[in-house]
Amino acid sequence: MGSADFQLFPETASSYASRVDAVFWFLCGVTVFFTVAIALAIVFLGVRYRRNAEVNRTPYTPPMWLELSWLIAPAPVLLFLFFWSSQVYLEMQRPPADAMEINCVARQWMWKFQHPSGRREIDELHVPVGRPIRLKMISEDVIHSFYVPAFRAKQDVLPGRFTSVWFEATKPGTYHLFCAEYCGTQHSKMVGSVKVMSPTEYEEWLSGKTGDVSPQVAGAALFEQHRCGTCHGPSTAQTRGPTLEGIYGKMIPLVDGTSVPAEDTYLRESIVRPGAKIVAGYQNLMPTFEGQLSEEELNDLVAYIKTLSGPVAATAKEAQP
Ligand code: CUA
Repeated sequence: MGSADFQLFPETASSYASRVDAVFWFLCGVTVFFTVAIALAIVFLGVRYRRNAEVNRTPYTPPMWLELSWLIAPAPVLLFLFFWSSQVYLEMQRPPADAMEINCVARQWMWKFQHPSGRREIDELHVPVGRPIRLKMISEDVIHSFYVPAFRAKQDVLPGRFTSVWFEATKPGTYHLFCAEYCGTQHSKMVGSVKVMSPTEYEEWLSGKTGDVSPQVAGAALFEQHRCGTCHGPSTAQTRGPTLEGIYGKMIPLVDGTSVPAEDTYLRESIVRPGAKIVAGYQNLMPTFEGQLSEEELNDLVAYIKTLSGPVAATAKEAQP
């Protein structure tokens, strides 16, 4: 990267980027206005009341209306900023229902992505322009942070728990991808790029490599290989474990009387730490698969388990972190 790449402000390349910028510039404007006003007042009063200047120095008690006015006047500005920025924040937190889901696994020190078709890539992410993309992210080791300045998108990537970030790219091009959380000696090299392409180019790119299986298909094979069905058979059979059919998105009652939504984070946890949340009516019998399955394989299994709940669940949104 040469100095020709240097820009004071990143490009505006996602659907919500300009709304984020508007809040930023408003905040900058308010800050600059008050900084300048206060600095000018300091200079003016410093000169006017300098030593030996002939001015009125009797102590002054401001009237109540003046005291109240500088307490009350900033409130509408701050409340306006609060509601406005909350609205933008919520928009950034809520992916559209039809967003395309791409899996992202971060590790020291790389970004691994998997498209719905199964195609995988490392440190590069190809996405179609004009289509909402939701990344379902997890870390294999420490906390990382997915950051694409041109999209104004930044979200921590945690071990053991899924987080997500969404964006809709508005301009074809190549954009920097950074890790924005110090994650070890090579943190500064944990960079990549997001390549935004036209939908047809994206389709071409997707079909450019064959032999990839979708997460659902790979998950079904893992399910078979590890004989998960022996205990988690269909609801009609007598089984040692709860059935996995139709559970996705439902509230699952647990032995301790609480309940938990059957979403990606819970399903994943129940594979690596089966004893953490036992379903009511069952015993803690399942062996752990911690260390035996990679995060990619866990993603595959969760994707397959979702298909057991029908097509609606397979595209349902993960709960926000
Ligand atoms: Cu990963 Cu910093």
